[in-house]
Amino acid sequence: AYRAEDDYDYLFKVVLIGDSGVGKSNLLSRFTRNEFSLESKSTIGVEFATRSLTVDGKVVKAQIWDTAGQERSVLVFSSLWTKCWLVHNPTFNCRYRAITSAYYRGAIGALLVYDVTRHATFENVERWLKELRSHTDPNIVVMLIGNKSDLRHLVAVPTEDGEAYAERESLYFMETSALEATNVENAFAEVLTQIY
Ligand code: GTP
Ligand code: MG
Repeated sequence: AYRAEDDYDYLFKVVLIGDSGVGKSNLLSRFTRNEFSLESKSTIGVEFATRSLTVDGKVVKAQIWDTAGQERSVLVFSSLWTKCWLVHNPTFNCRYRAITSAYYRGAIGALLVYDVTRHATFENVERWLKELRSHTDPNIVVMLIGNKSDLRHLVAVPTEDGEAYAERESLYFMETSALEATNVENAFAEVLTQIY
């Protein structure tokens, strides 16, 4: 039977989270457009892209949201000093909180990404998971992703550590390379299948 290009049975919102530079935007572009960029800039604001997959004979459309992983900071303008300060405490920033809850609202899947060559990005997974859990339904499907698996000689987070963490927190786990297109399709497909 003929199906229009935008015809789908299910629409699932999936969010990408994790520290800045771990490769969220490149995972997204690899999955939705089969593109990779070596010199991608940090994401500004919120972007999203979609792709449809067939799961069990049903067309599942994934709407994947992407935002910058950097510490959200606010510019505070002081008339007294005619100077701008960067305030790194997000509790001062209600705009930050509004954006955060809008970002997570309605998400039923998440890819929590760290960079296998930067241990600090793995240490921050806990923080991201906390934020995710406090803004989403407990049934959300979460996949922990160790990205940049192509940089074998630079690995700082052994596969077993990622695996063990995922098991402890009941997350799915995969190592990916957006550059080599390894496991990117699998990771997204697994999340969508588990949601379905
Ligand atoms: P923010 O938007 O700042 O949160 O960063 P991001 O998580 O979206 O990272 P981005 O996709 O912009 O990638 C950051 C850098 O890592 C870029 O230079 C990419 O080319 C590089 N990169 C992303 N994925 C991979 C990968 O799988 N392997 C390698 N070697 N480099 C990668
Ligand atoms: Mg980005």
